[in-house]
Formats: sequence, C-alpha cells, structure tokens
Amino acid sequence: MSKATPITKENPFCICFVCLGNICRSPTAEGIFQHLAEERGLGSYFYIDSAGTSAYHIGEKANSRSRSVAEENGVKLKSRARQFDAADLEEFDLILAMDSSNYQDIRQLDVQNKFAEKIKMMREFDPDSKHHDDVPDPYYGGMDGFQNVYDVLYRSSAALLDQLEQRVEE
Ligand code: 4NP
Repeated sequence: MSKATPITKENPFCICFVCLGNICRSPTAEGIFQHLAEERGLGSYFYIDSAGTSAYHIGEKANSRSRSVAEENGVKLKSRARQFDAADLEEFDLILAMDSSNYQDIRQLDVQNKFAEKIKMMREFDPDSKHHDDVPDPYYGGMDGFQNVYDVLYRSSAALLDQLEQRVEE
C-alpha cells in the first residue's frame, strides 16, 4: 500500500477482501468496511469488493448465518460469490487475505512477484492480535464462530479505516 498517494473521490482506494468460499468471511468484511466508510461519510472514497480463492460457491449469496449475524448489527451483506483471479492483482490497491492459506493462494497467482506489497493478512490490522493470526473459517462450526468472525472483522476494519482515513483528501 503506497502511503503517500492521497485518496480522493476521483481516485478512490480499492480493497478486495479474500477468503476461500467468498460466502462467509470476506463478504462480511466487505459489508462491514462499506458500512463503516458510509457511516463516516467516506463511502465515495472507497471501492470495496470481495472474492474467494475457490470456485465452490460462485454466484451464491453470503451464507445465511453470516447474513444473520451481520444484520443483527445493522450491516446488510449484498454480495454474490466470485472467484479471485490474476486481474484482481492489478485492479486493487489492497488485497486482504482472511487466512494464511488464502494468502498463499493469492501469492501463487502473482507469478512475476510484482504485487507482494499490496497483499496482506486481514488481522495485521486487528488491534487485539499481535501475530497476524488467521480469521478462523466458521463454515463447519456453530453460530458462536460466526459471531467471533464478525467481531474480529469489525475491529480490524475499523482500525484499517482509521489508517486510510488519514489519506483522504476532500
Ligand atoms: P469462507 O468460508 O471461506 O469464509 O467463505 C467457507 C465457505 C465454504 C467452504 C469453506 C469455507 N467450503 O468448503 O465449501
């Protein structure tokens, strides 16, 4: 992420959140970040998207458990699943992997090793995680896992937006 470049309405900052299926973690991150940016009056300074490293769920809505936890918190998840591809490495300013396996899969698409700087782990921004931990995959677990994912993504997104907001120029 180039720290010097100002974020303007003409040159919005583009973020792609990435997990495995693009139905649980990354659509939740996308919805939360979009919600927070709009709440701060910064919606038009960002282009937010999400994708999955796998093709398993292409075209599906976010998982009903993810949507339900998000909606309880006033966040609507509107995305449809798509697969991350090499063109996304060019298009986005910041690509945030939910776990280390997603990170490796994204890095493998970067065959010329040109984009390492903009590919990061989501929990690098989590103020409560010192080790760039994974956002745990909630798919095969219970509702408490989905709530935990929401909480991790909320505080990580808020901290990320705090950083990026400093670069916004009206
Ligand atoms: P996500 O969760 O990567 O957070 O969207 C998963 C969704 C589906 C599967 C695994 C994880 N799956 O194996 O189908």
